[in-house]
Amino acid sequence: METLTLKERAAHISEAANRLSDELARTGFPEPSFELGLPPPLSNDAPETPALRSKLELLQMVDELRSLLTDPTLQLTSQMRNPALSVHPIIRLGIAENFPPEGTTVQDLASKLHLPESLVGRLLSHSATYHIYHESSPGYFVHTAASRALSENDGMRQYHMVGLEETLPATCKTASALVQDPLSEEPESCGWSIQNDTELSLFKALANMPDRANTFAEAMRWQSTLPGFSHHHLTEVFPWGSSEQQLTVVDVGGGVGQVSQALLDHSPDVKCIVQDYPEVVSRGQDSLPAKYKPRITFQSHDFFKEQPIKGADIYLLRMILHDWSDKYAIKIIQALVPALKPGAKVVINDRVIPAWHQAHYLVEREARDSDMYMLAFQNARERTAQEWSALLKRADGRFQLTRVHQPPRSVLAVVEVTWDG
Ligand SMILES: C[S@@+](CC[C@H](N)C(=O)[O-])C[C@H]1O[C@@H](n2cnc3c(N)ncnc32)[C@H](O)[C@@H]1O
Repeated sequence: METLTLKERAAHISEAANRLSDELARTGFPEPSFELGLPPPLSNDAPETPALRSKLELLQMVDELRSLLTDPTLQLTSQMRNPALSVHPIIRLGIAENFPPEGTTVQDLASKLHLPESLVGRLLSHSATYHIYHESSPGYFVHTAASRALSENDGMRQYHMVGLEETLPATCKTASALVQDPLSEEPESCGWSIQNDTELSLFKALANMPDRANTFAEAMRWQSTLPGFSHHHLTEVFPWGSSEQQLTVVDVGGGVGQVSQALLDHSPDVKCIVQDYPEVVSRGQDSLPAKYKPRITFQSHDFFKEQPIKGADIYLLRMILHDWSDKYAIKIIQALVPALKPGAKVVINDRVIPAWHQAHYLVEREARDSDMYMLAFQNARERTAQEWSALLKRADGRFQLTRVHQPPRSVLAVVEVTWDG
């Protein structure tokens, strides 16, 4: 493995960039720009020159630095954008799960898994070019941090299975869905429904596919353990603009109640009602630790129907509205209206896409990647603060967007809305 320090890497990069820049200036060519692209001496078909050699050197060094500084989880995600996808068979064929902690020869691993040696070698060698496994001597592979995490963590494997078997194929069919109807807001006319040859939306179809639904649920559960999705980002800004101590929170589409549990851990005086589909609610009831029972109750409720809990202080929508196009998100919000008392809060815990030039493009890219996944899954969307505000106004002019709080290391923002009715 490379053993250069960060400073040594930076020095190499600086030295190569200086060489390249001087060489371009000496030969009278401009520096590369996104507007004009590469000057001729740096194009792929240019003859071998010192400038071209410096460019290739820089690309390699920068890629390695980027990989080195990337969280091992994301290291795996980057491979999802590569069509070769060796990490997919590596998970499916049991290589990830059975890779020995101390490393292995290709021959031993292949024979243990009853797989062709040549195939195991090809898959591992490809993954090693993404720093997932490392070939320490010919034919002998050892773990990297990324492959070790993949070996040890079932939730992470499920998460990548959803990425590779649900998200990626669905996004490949987004274009076909858009050709049929570029403005469709219907959850059953999206890339995922074309890919799965179904007229049902994702949520309805999964209800008939317990294995896939379970993989989805495990993947989501694992995602919620990632620091960027931690519940503490939400609870630390609680009580979301209200000074009252005894608050009733309705956790709309609250799943099995994990967020409500985190809320109670943070503020023991709060009372939560978790609403979801009957089968989710009964799983939540069965798995609720006794200490929460006095303060968390469950209720079967379809969030498109009128909200049955009237006069609560807060209605929480965590990772709900981004699953729906504006047409349906508005219906979900409007279903709350008959229950709202003056000053009640609606708290939306979802991504807020950064406004123009508000964040580095890599931060914006992450949110916009998710926007494309939502488009592929349900014709749904992520939203900017302006789009959240417009959505609320379209739902009912009496909703006031009071505050958008973006906890610094959180993927999700807290959009606080006050009912002025
Ligand atoms: C992405 S999960 C979010 C769960 C939870 N709020 C969280 O943050 O962990 C979406 C939830 O919405 C629920 N859901 C989907 N459609 C629903 C509906 N029509 N009525 C009630 N719940 C629904 C799903 O069962 C799922 O639990």
